[in-house]
Amino acid sequence: MVKAAVFFSAAVYALVVCWPAQAGSSSAAPSIDTVHPLISGVYTAPKAFPTSEFPSMDYMPKSQEAEPRPHITRVGGGAYSDKLNNPMKLPKHAPHGEGVLPKPSPSAAPLAHRPSFRKEALKNLTDILENNSTSTCQRCHEALRLGQRLAWAKPEVVPDLMIELCKKYKYASSPTVNEACTGTFGLTQWGGPYTQLLSYANLTEGSPTPGWLCANFIDGGSCEYPKMEPLSQAFLNEWFKGQTKPPAHVVERSKKVGPKRDKPLRVFHGSDFHVDARYLVGAEGGCDSGQCCRSDSFNSTLWSHATFAPGSLPKQNISHPAGYWGYYQCDTPWSMIAAAMEGLSYLQKDEPLDLALYTGDLTTHDADWHISQDLVTYSEQSLYDMFHRHLGNTTMVVALGNHDSSPADLFAPHSLPDGRGDQLSWDWDNVAALVKSNGWGNNKTAETIRSHYGAYSISPRQGLRVIALNSDFWYSGNPMTFLDLSNPDVSGMLRFFTDELQAAEDANERVWMVAHVLSGWNGGDGVDVPTNLLYQIVSRYSHTIAHIFFGHTHEDEFQVWYESSNGNSSSVSRKTEDARAMAFIGPSVTPLTNVNPSLRVYEVDPETYEVMDYLQYYTQLQDAEQLRKNGPVWNLLYKARETYSNFSASQAAGTYAAPVKLDQGGMWPKNASLNASFWAALTDEMEQRPELIELHQVYQGRNSPRSPQCNTKACHEAKVCYMRSASSALGRSCPAGYGSVQGG
Ligand SMILES: *[C@@H]1O[C@H](CO)[C@@H](O)[C@H](O)[C@H]1NC(C)=O
Ligand SMILES: *[C@@H]1O[C@H](CO)[C@@H](O)[C@H](O)[C@H]1NC(C)=O
Ligand SMILES: *[C@@H]1O[C@H](CO)[C@@H](O)[C@H](O)[C@H]1NC(C)=O
Ligand SMILES: *[C@@H]1O[C@H](CO)[C@@H](O)[C@H](O)[C@H]1NC(C)=O
Ligand SMILES: *[C@@H]1O[C@H](CO)[C@@H](O)[C@H](O)[C@H]1NC(C)=O
Ligand SMILES: *[C@@H]1O[C@H](CO)[C@@H](O)[C@H](O)[C@H]1NC(C)=O
Ligand SMILES: *[C@@H]1O[C@H](CO)[C@@H](O)[C@H](O)[C@H]1NC(C)=O
Ligand SMILES: *[C@@H]1O[C@H](CO)[C@@H](O)[C@H](O)[C@H]1NC(C)=O
Ligand SMILES: *[C@@H]1O[C@H](CO)[C@@H](O)[C@H](O)[C@H]1NC(C)=O
Ligand SMILES: *[C@@H]1O[C@H](CO)[C@@H](O)[C@H](O)[C@H]1NC(C)=O
Ligand SMILES: *[C@@H]1O[C@H](CO)[C@@H](O)[C@H](O)[C@H]1NC(C)=O
Ligand SMILES: *[C@@H]1O[C@H](CO)[C@@H](O)[C@H](O)[C@H]1NC(C)=O
Repeated sequence: MVKAAVFFSAAVYALVVCWPAQAGSSSAAPSIDTVHPLISGVYTAPKAFPTSEFPSMDYMPKSQEAEPRPHITRVGGGAYSDKLNNPMKLPKHAPHGEGVLPKPSPSAAPLAHRPSFRKEALKNLTDILENNSTSTCQRCHEALRLGQRLAWAKPEVVPDLMIELCKKYKYASSPTVNEACTGTFGLTQWGGPYTQLLSYANLTEGSPTPGWLCANFIDGGSCEYPKMEPLSQAFLNEWFKGQTKPPAHVVERSKKVGPKRDKPLRVFHGSDFHVDARYLVGAEGGCDSGQCCRSDSFNSTLWSHATFAPGSLPKQNISHPAGYWGYYQCDTPWSMIAAAMEGLSYLQKDEPLDLALYTGDLTTHDADWHISQDLVTYSEQSLYDMFHRHLGNTTMVVALGNHDSSPADLFAPHSLPDGRGDQLSWDWDNVAALVKSNGWGNNKTAETIRSHYGAYSISPRQGLRVIALNSDFWYSGNPMTFLDLSNPDVSGMLRFFTDELQAAEDANERVWMVAHVLSGWNGGDGVDVPTNLLYQIVSRYSHTIAHIFFGHTHEDEFQVWYESSNGNSSSVSRKTEDARAMAFIGPSVTPLTNVNPSLRVYEVDPETYEVMDYLQYYTQLQDAEQLRKNGPVWNLLYKARETYSNFSASQAAGTYAAPVKLDQGGMWPKNASLNASFWAALTDEMEQRPELIELHQVYQGRNSPRSPQCNTKACHEAKVCYMRSASSALGRSCPAGYGSVQGG
């Protein structure tokens, strides 16, 4: 959710605390009675916290009056301080040493030496911002250019200027203007990264960068997105080393590359656990700013002061006290994390899983001033190790999410000068060490992780290559994505992906791509230029790619890629016969916002590595709170094939268009996988049977009593359009406002 977007003078920038875009649906939430009935309960997690999993507990409550706090040791030795997670001791900012500024540029020395630089800079910026005879967009462009000169001259002054302007124009106001402005634009929060962006961005005449920055970061959509230039044939030719189409032998060869076996492989897909170790039971869950269920959360309707002693709100001034198992407006407390891990173990009661995927986001959402490197590495350490304990020898492939960084959303490309390209090495180093210590990769894997922003590839089975990418380089919340939009791959992430795909094609392997931020759906999360290149890559290698897995939105969604080779993803046909690839967008464990925690298991053909079916589990958070006697109940919500494989309506209407002969009664053949053709054909079937879209809507939030319905023609059309959008530009061309069920 984009909490607020603000326009700043020297830069254009945002308080983008990025979880998915807010739902804009106008329809009312269904009552709990009208949502899809539960399928029988499968597993009830224990009520007691599994303390034996940890060497010791920093804090263990006697009952459910508070959350437990396990003692977490660091992979490099030592332990995390309990202060990091004590809900009563929220930090004011990350350690000062974590801030990174650009080096000043000698070319700007004359400006730097002007007397009263700071006063002058502030006046010049204010003049631009308050010049009402120019449009907001013009002011944005001018402010960016001046901001760049200031960042070149005296970078150390820029965060202070941002804070000052923030206070003057009240760009941030909660809990108070002072606290929010210093807490947001301080050196260790966005002050450092935004100063770097100003210094390093390509703002030269003709560069598309300033236009994108202004369109993305200015509140209220005042500036239109510039037109995206398609990738030229010359570019594509060079990118694909002369082979812009897969060779005929690749298209024709058998997709059976894995060893035969009678049973399908079972693969776990976890996403967006977002552990909140500072969750305070009884705190305000219905807060109206910042992160709820915290000792400093309040609801301004019931409590009029912005500041108070942690945890001191009287009961009568709290609208929705945070429950022990979690709350719909908060991240996941330790109790629910443990229940999810126990659910994961239950899924293996008969036999171990064959593989596990994690599509990112371990760390809690939070105000910028509460985030630190330690909070991120703590979340990585505790959750990865817990996964390892519950998965035994099963390998987990992990992709980093936008929240697995400090400040959240920031990942910087290696191409930054003066060593700034390494400013996140603390993060890669930690992930590399954890992947190795948990037995999920070897020294070479760890080396790849260190040199590729957390990305790597492994071959867990004969004929299968799983590539984990850092998708923050196509994420609109990461300011570094906008450094130079004349280059679709500033970080080299898509080069790495392409080289891995080529190696897989040469070796006759099938590929799974695992990443956090989706590239399409309603287009709110991706950036056009890189997701357009990604589109071309996926289309080029669609014979090698078996599946793509994303997370990030917290919702159960999918997106389909169609044939594209002209460098312009917006011009694809969106016809089912042209479907080439698809992505599962896996739902979250965090209930933030207004969704139920969930776990998913795929059943996979061992020879083709294509998904034959999946089982979607969830727990009704509302019930967990009511059933204080026991832990959360994990239910089977639906099976994909059973739910979606009847194509009789589109068959009868003559719109069924997949290259697969249906069985009797219009059913997808049992031996055919749920590949891109299936999901594309499903969107055609949905057009004939809108009740399927309404069902998809219920599943999107996992039967949440807070989901809005999708029972209008406008909503039906929008959702089908999102499902057919795998690039940001395509998604944004769909009708807006129906992308998410989180609005409640
Ligand atoms: C402010 O603007 C004046 C007039 O354009 C210019 O001479 C001066 O260098 C600027 N100073 C700063 C710090 O931007
Ligand atoms: C521009 O408009 C703003 C808001 O309407 C106002 O506060 C400001 O004084 C105006 N500036 C000038 C120079 O007129
Ligand atoms: C306001 O903008 C106009 C048009 O760009 C320009 O001519 C004028 O000098 C600006 N005024 C100030 C005070 O910067
Ligand atoms: C900046 O953008 C311009 C215009 O797109 C481009 O020609 C130039 O190569 C870019 N500069 C750098 C340093 O990449
Ligand atoms: C704040 O409290 C009021 C009054 O109880 C309630 O109606 C509202 O829903 C609460 N706000 C949130 C965000 O929960
Ligand atoms: C707390 O709630 C009581 C009862 O509604 C109200 O009188 C009081 O003003 C509230 N306190 C604050 C600080 O808003
Ligand atoms: C896990 O792997 C180790 C080493 O290969 C082996 O000794 C152990 O039996 C395996 N555990 C299970 C549960 O398969
Ligand atoms: C992996 O690296 C460690 C040190 O970084 C080294 O001690 C170990 O021998 C290496 N293992 C292999 C298999 O190369
Ligand atoms: C890309 O394709 C779309 C849809 O056909 C078209 O409207 C747009 O003009 C194309 N973009 C360019 C720059 O050619
Ligand atoms: C498929 O759906 C049609 C209605 O569209 C229904 O009549 C038929 O019974 C369904 N087939 C199966 C096997 O469920
Ligand atoms: C499924 O079975 C049918 C009939 O035996 C066969 O013609 C078809 O090729 C099979 N499809 C796949 C994907 O194996
Ligand atoms: C999906 O699988 C069927 C065979 O079951 C095949 O005919 C079709 O081409 C596949 N679709 C894609 C996009 O690979």
